[in-house]
Amino acid sequence: MADASASPEMLDPTGRVVMLSGASRGIGLAIARRLHAQGYTLSLGVRNPDAAVFAAFDPARTLVQRFDAEQAETAAQWVDATVARFGRIDALINNAGILRPLDLRSGDESVLDEMWAVNVKAPFRLIRLALPHLEKGGHGRIINVASTDGKRYRDTVSVAYAMTKHAVMALTHAAKFAGWEKGVRVTALCPGAVDTDLVASVPGVTPSANRIAPETIAETVAFLLRLPNTASVAELVLNTRLESWI
Ligand SMILES: NC(=O)c1ccc[n+]([C@@H]2O[C@H](COP(=O)([O-])OP(=O)(O)OC[C@H]3O[C@@H](n4cnc5c(N)ncnc54)[C@H](OP(=O)(O)O)[C@@H]3O)[C@@H](O)[C@H]2O)c1
Repeated sequence: MADASASPEMLDPTGRVVMLSGASRGIGLAIARRLHAQGYTLSLGVRNPDAAVFAAFDPARTLVQRFDAEQAETAAQWVDATVARFGRIDALINNAGILRPLDLRSGDESVLDEMWAVNVKAPFRLIRLALPHLEKGGHGRIINVASTDGKRYRDTVSVAYAMTKHAVMALTHAAKFAGWEKGVRVTALCPGAVDTDLVASVPGVTPSANRIAPETIAETVAFLLRLPNTASVAELVLNTRLESWI
């Protein structure tokens, strides 16, 4: 029976096509599973489309496409394949990301280039490519998985990671302005430590028991995707620790 208290404004997942990068593991896999359970049609951009983990997804409403954030041509190929298969794009979730140690006193500058390519340039490129399609439906959504490291600076193993996540915040607000008139709403989702491989070997990171479960991030994404155009969430911080302002 329909929930009589549910808001009539919330968007229906059925038939909506969501592009999601980095769906192979961690936060991305949790998001993919949650959105699949809700009935979305998924276009998953991953480096290895043959991974066994995708066997559980309904092939009628799932496309698993090769996407490598460091290979520009694969972004266009993924967008084209999504439109060719499903005829539309309703949401883009820029989730793929990497964290490599680099500070101002040590480490090779090439690490900054690598993180810039994956964490910033690839989302920039995908937004450019997907925006015309997102605008068509009048309710397009973009979620950029940023970080609390995009909201403030505190001592960290990687000043370069913090720099890229601050850039993702600027990109988010730029996309918000670009798509606003045609109903595209854009969110920078900024979690603290999430219990995935990304932080497993980071010295001094929040202990595992205090980290956010990837499934909690997935539930938050599911909520954001259903919000109507009248409820724009430009930034959403989910912190694991007590800090000022965030
Ligand atoms: N974990 C945290 O504490 C935390 C906190 C805040 C924000 N975040 C952000 O959340 C996002 C997901 O992180 P996670 O914790 O789920 O990390 P993760 O478990 O290490 O997973 C990273 C994902 O990104 C993909 N990826 C890495 N390099 C790629 C490339 N060149 N091309 C395409 N895909 C690539 C990986 O694919 P492969 O399987 O092919 O390597 C994997 O699916 C990242 O943007 C991260 O910065 C994480």
